[in-house]
Amino acid sequence: MKAITYPGYGEPSVLELSDITDRPVGRGEILVRLVAASVNPVDWKTTAGYLADYAPVEFPAVAGSDVSGTVVAVGDDVTEFRVGDDVIGSVAPFIGAFSELAPVAAAVAAAKPDRLTFAEAACLPTAGLTALTAIRALAPEPGDTVVVNGAAGGIGTFATQLARSAGARVVGICSPAGADHVRRLGAEPVAYGPGLTSRLPDLDPARTSLVDTHGGEALADLVAVLGDPARAVSVAAPEIGTHGGRYLVVAPNGGDLAELAGAAADGRVQVVVARTFPIRDTRDAYEHLRAGGVHGKVVLDASTGW
Ligand SMILES: NC(=O)c1ccc[n+]([C@@H]2O[C@H](COP(=O)([O-])OP(=O)(O)OC[C@H]3O[C@@H](n4cnc5c(N)ncnc54)[C@H](OP(=O)(O)O)[C@@H]3O)[C@@H](O)[C@H]2O)c1
Repeated sequence: MKAITYPGYGEPSVLELSDITDRPVGRGEILVRLVAASVNPVDWKTTAGYLADYAPVEFPAVAGSDVSGTVVAVGDDVTEFRVGDDVIGSVAPFIGAFSELAPVAAAVAAAKPDRLTFAEAACLPTAGLTALTAIRALAPEPGDTVVVNGAAGGIGTFATQLARSAGARVVGICSPAGADHVRRLGAEPVAYGPGLTSRLPDLDPARTSLVDTHGGEALADLVAVLGDPARAVSVAAPEIGTHGGRYLVVAPNGGDLAELAGAAADGRVQVVVARTFPIRDTRDAYEHLRAGGVHGKVVLDASTGW
């Protein structure tokens, strides 16, 4: 079968379209005929070798994590899915998804709602669940304010909407080019960069929390805006702990993914596909995401062939 592989760690240019051996479906797994996939920063970081200690790769490796498609085989002990079901899920740990048949643990998969396209559905697993994890940790209520750092990005786009649907006011920190996108999500955009905290609108420190998806030099100042640093979470910067906040790591699971898919299907959360690449151009998609300026998600289309 066809797959996007890499022979060793490196820049996106190491990615190539290859023929690889079909693999049997494992216990607890479903094999998903890929229709669409999405690209996350962790994909190009894994290919670059940044996660070599945490998630070592055997070469040649198949790239990618988030997929949508149709179940073509069901492993032992899988009761939730049948051949022919349209599903979404992620391949852990960030290896093996971008192939004609993606092996997904049934425990982290969910049914694809009919009202979502495969492209939209493929955007949900990593970015959507990470945003859900962050917003659940903060549990904002109507009248609260959530500051989202990196509001126009993959996670930020979902986090902004989840906070809004909880009734919170959202201040979305983004580039000037992302301001319209953030406004469309129902948030008040504020440009990142020097002097950031002086540009923030009036906030009630006692009712404000922070979702950080970027880290960086402004993090300490942003946490200091809050009355209680424990109301700061980051999915990008473990050092938030030194400022009194919490670093969160997403734990994929099918129940949460189904909940998110339901929210997307009934319009409570909009999936924003910023740009779609044919799957054979995955290296261009990596470069595009890595370059920044993406407002929403980057998708790979496998529906028209490899
Ligand atoms: N902990 C976990 O479980 C977990 C899970 C998934 C992802 N992550 C990590 O979370 C991070 C975000 O992921 P993502 O998918 O949202 O990435 P993304 O789509 O690339 O979004 C990142 C956002 O950060 C913005 N940004 C750039 N410079 C900034 C600055 N100085 N201040 C504030 N924002 C800035 C970018 O804006 P512009 O592009 O407009 O400059 C972009 O919108 C990545 O580091 C990823 O590896 C962690």
